[in-house]
Amino acid sequence: MKPTAGADQDNNTEDTGTEPARRKAGPDLYTEFQQIVGNPYVDNPRMVCRDVYVYYGETCAIKKVSIDVACNEVLAMIGPSGCGKSTFLRCLNRMNDTVSICRVEGEIRLDGMDIYDPSVDVVPLRAKVGMVFQKPNPFPKSIYENISYGPKIHGLTKDKHEMDEIVETSLIRAGLWEEVKDRLNEPGTGLSGGQQQRLCIARAIAVSPEVILMDEPCSALDPIATSKIEDLIAELRTQYSIVIVTHAMQQAARVSQRTAYFHLGNLVEVGDTDQIFTNPKHQLTEDYITGRFG
Ligand SMILES: Nc1ncnc2c1ncn2[C@@H]1O[C@H](COP(=O)(O)OP(=O)(O)OP(=O)(O)O)[C@@H](O)[C@H]1O
Ligand SMILES: [Mg+2]
Repeated sequence: MKPTAGADQDNNTEDTGTEPARRKAGPDLYTEFQQIVGNPYVDNPRMVCRDVYVYYGETCAIKKVSIDVACNEVLAMIGPSGCGKSTFLRCLNRMNDTVSICRVEGEIRLDGMDIYDPSVDVVPLRAKVGMVFQKPNPFPKSIYENISYGPKIHGLTKDKHEMDEIVETSLIRAGLWEEVKDRLNEPGTGLSGGQQQRLCIARAIAVSPEVILMDEPCSALDPIATSKIEDLIAELRTQYSIVIVTHAMQQAARVSQRTAYFHLGNLVEVGDTDQIFTNPKHQLTEDYITGRFG
C-alpha cells in the first residue's frame, strides 16, 4: 500500500513497504506527512538544503525540507498551486530576502558555503545562483546591455573586446545569436516572448553561474519556443545545475533527471524522474501526476 497523507513515519526514511513504525516523539507540528519517500540526497551535491522552514509572518509555507541539488543535473519541482515550489526555489539564492515578512530557517549550502551566513553578499550569490522567472523580464535596455550588465557590475571583463566575446558566447549558448546578431543595439523588450526568455537565460549565464533556478520558464511560451528552451536546458546541464519548477508534467519528464513532489509545503517524494512518472511510490504523487489532484 502506498503511504498516504498523515502516514505516521519518521522523516527521511525510505519506503520499505512494511507497516510504518509508530513515532515515539510527540507530533511535529509542521510535518504533516512526517516522511519523505525516496532519497533526497546525492553523492555529488552542488547545493545542500537541510531542515529548511520558510514562514510568511506566522504561516509556515515550507516545512522541514531537506534535499540536495547535484552537479550537472536538472531537478524538477512539481506540485499543486500554492504548495511552496516558488517559495523553496527562491530560498536557493535568497530571493526571499526581498519579501519583508518572509523568514527562512535551516541550512542551505552552495559548494559547502552557508548562503544564509550574515557575511554572505547576496549580489555575487545571485550571480552564482541565477534565476529565470515565469514572465521574461529583460531590462529596458539594448540586447547587448542586457547581457553586458552583469559582467560589468561583477568586474568580469577588462575591455570591450572581452565584453563582446561574453555577449556573443552567452547569446550563442542561449540559442539566440543568429536571431539577434544584427540588432544588438535594439531594445531587449522588442523581442518575442520566447526570444526574451532566451535573452534572460543568456543574461543569467553571462556571469558564469553554478546553478540556474527556473520558475515555470515556459508557461507563457508557445510549443516551438518551449521546445527551444527545453533543448537549451539539456545543453546547459553539461555545465550547470538547474532547478526547474514546472506545471507541465511532460516537461518535467522530458528535461529532468530527478523530480521532487511538493504538497502543502512538504517535500513528499523525490526520485529519478522515470520512477516518479512511471512508478510513484506515494499516493499523493500518484494522484497528482495522474491528474486526480491539483
Ligand atoms: N509574499 C508572500 N506573502 C505571503 N504569503 C505568500 C507569499 N508568497 C507566497 N505565499 C504563500 O506561500 C504559499 C506557497 O506559495 P508559492 O508561491 O511558493 O506556491 P507555488 O507552489 O509556487 O504555487 P504556484 O504553482 O501557483 O506558483 C502559498 O500559500 C502562498 O499564498
Ligand atoms: Mg510558483
